[in-house]
Amino acid sequence: MRAKLFLIGGLLLAAALTAPVALADNGGFTPVAPESPNAEGIRDSYLFVSIFVFSIFVLVEGLLIAFIVRYRRRKRARFEDGAPIHGATKLELLWSAFPVVILFLIGAFVFIELPGIKDVPSAATGDQLEIRVTGRQYYWQYEYPNGVIAIDTMAAPAGVPVRLEVTSPDDDVIHSWWIPALGGKIDAIPGTVNETWFQADTPGTYTGQCAELCGLEHARMLASVEVLPEAEFAAWLERRRAEQTAGSGELGKEEWEGACAKCHGLSGEGGIGPKLAGSIVLADPEAVENLVRNGRRTMPAVGSGWTSEQVEALTAYLKENPPSGS
Ligand code: CUA
Repeated sequence: MRAKLFLIGGLLLAAALTAPVALADNGGFTPVAPESPNAEGIRDSYLFVSIFVFSIFVLVEGLLIAFIVRYRRRKRARFEDGAPIHGATKLELLWSAFPVVILFLIGAFVFIELPGIKDVPSAATGDQLEIRVTGRQYYWQYEYPNGVIAIDTMAAPAGVPVRLEVTSPDDDVIHSWWIPALGGKIDAIPGTVNETWFQADTPGTYTGQCAELCGLEHARMLASVEVLPEAEFAAWLERRRAEQTAGSGELGKEEWEGACAKCHGLSGEGGIGPKLAGSIVLADPEAVENLVRNGRRTMPAVGSGWTSEQVEALTAYLKENPPSGS
């Protein structure tokens, strides 16, 4: 009776523990569905290693339970010794050889997959897009070959290999670029340029976030990649180029939301940084430029190295949309 109660209780507990996992995406057991060949390589390696991990778990836990039942004390006196056992050569050879084989298989599989994960596919330079990704406290900046700049949301063409040069300014800290559906993490390190890539064939929005604890607002350092059909992307790039030259468009808003609002609040209501709503500084483009370029007291120089187009985009946006504070 008691054993039955234990069994039912155990099953209920197991069900309660596994329910959220089962309800999550992919059953929660596999990485997010890959949308780029390198992410596929990572997922395949994960699943391959999981076969051994799962088998060993079942084997070890199964034997544990079997031994507990089979060799329980029963009516034996409490301090009576068990049967003396000396050596089991076959068994010992087996449990030495098997791990070697398993490690060899895993190593071989990963070495076969690695080039497909790491190496940017060689395509004619014209068929490849290069984007410079800069991680900063606490936003991502993207620079396109024609000088277009975007913050936090990256636009990219579908079906084209996109090479990312990932870095961080000298006066910043280490961040980590990670869009799980589009590949693995790559660190953004001051003074170093790391390289990664993706090629997404399905248009859509793929989200991720900074994966390296980089300071107070690390959790809000989100990133997303919007994959557009190739023609739409070309139009986007053209439009942004024209807007940037004219000092209008979305860049100013992106800068406010990405570089300012994470600390000062979306409406300038204040947060980690002081309240900005109603501040006379915001109405003075020169003061704003000085502030973002050089920082002040605990505020980092979020706009050090910004082009004058970038600074103008922000000051123009603030002139049009002074933060209301509510
Ligand atoms: Cu940047 Cu965490």
